[in-house]
Amino acid sequence: MEIKKDSKVKKLKAKLLEQNKELKSAKKEIVRLQKEIIHLDAQKEEFISMAAHELRAPTTAIKGYISMVLEGDAGDISERARGFLTDARATNERLIRLVSNMLNVSRIEKGKIVYQLERVSLGKVALQVYDDFKYEAGRKNLKFTVKASKNVNDHIYIDPNRVHEVVTNLVSNAIKYTDVGQVSIRVKKSDDNKYVRLEVEDSGPGIAEEERSKLFKKFYRINTTAGKTIGTGLGLYICKLIVKNFKGKIGVTSRYDKGSIFWVELPLIEDL
Ligand SMILES: Nc1ncnc2c1ncn2[C@@H]1O[C@H](COP(=O)(O)OP(=O)(O)O)[C@@H](O)[C@H]1O
Ligand SMILES: [Mg+2]
Repeated sequence: MEIKKDSKVKKLKAKLLEQNKELKSAKKEIVRLQKEIIHLDAQKEEFISMAAHELRAPTTAIKGYISMVLEGDAGDISERARGFLTDARATNERLIRLVSNMLNVSRIEKGKIVYQLERVSLGKVALQVYDDFKYEAGRKNLKFTVKASKNVNDHIYIDPNRVHEVVTNLVSNAIKYTDVGQVSIRVKKSDDNKYVRLEVEDSGPGIAEEERSKLFKKFYRINTTAGKTIGTGLGLYICKLIVKNFKGKIGVTSRYDKGSIFWVELPLIEDL
């Protein structure tokens, strides 16, 4: 009986030792993989930022040439040519936005951006962005509206370029991912009157509950909605970084298949 027990203990001991060895080598492998991931991540960052830099100059040049021709610098052009060029300009604008997201993400992450703080009316930003996207929304036959009351205090203390970027990303998504129906932008005060709230509502595919928290992560795209479109999955991540930096909040409410409302709240400057 004793002997049997002894050999059982021995066997178990050997097994344990074996498992311990395996664990150690697994741990080593994990450390190695972690290092590799960090290295790959750095390489990816470097590639993105290099690609964005290289793309910036040509896209800006294209923008300039298209504008010149549209403004008549090359003589009269036919309505048909004007139509094609207007399309080309809108596509190029999309490319410029993409490149700007790629460039800005690492700058913002590394805290390399110097913010120029100003008193900004969020309603005015909404109206500007509305103008920027009127054409694109029209092309997709979407009903596109903006509602921002001029009589309401909607001032925030923020870098105007950065808040413009946030609203642009939300509106461009709404239009990009909505095939039929409407996109509307609204600016109002938050329920507690401490924030200015901007909402971008669309009648697009909506976002399933399990995806909602992941959307704001870096590079995250939902296959079912993003599938056919070009994009980087950086837009909402950048929005979140910016909004957080200015002590605001960002989120989404959505009913799957019924569209989404992306919203941002930024601290209101109280007028004395
Ligand atoms: N209004 C929207 N309706 C449906 N899906 C959306 C909407 N906005 C964003 N998404 C989803 O969230 C993902 C992340 O958005 P974003 O960070 O802007 O990256 P990108 O637009 O480059 O893919 C998109 O790929 C898309 O799947
Ligand atoms: Mg986007």
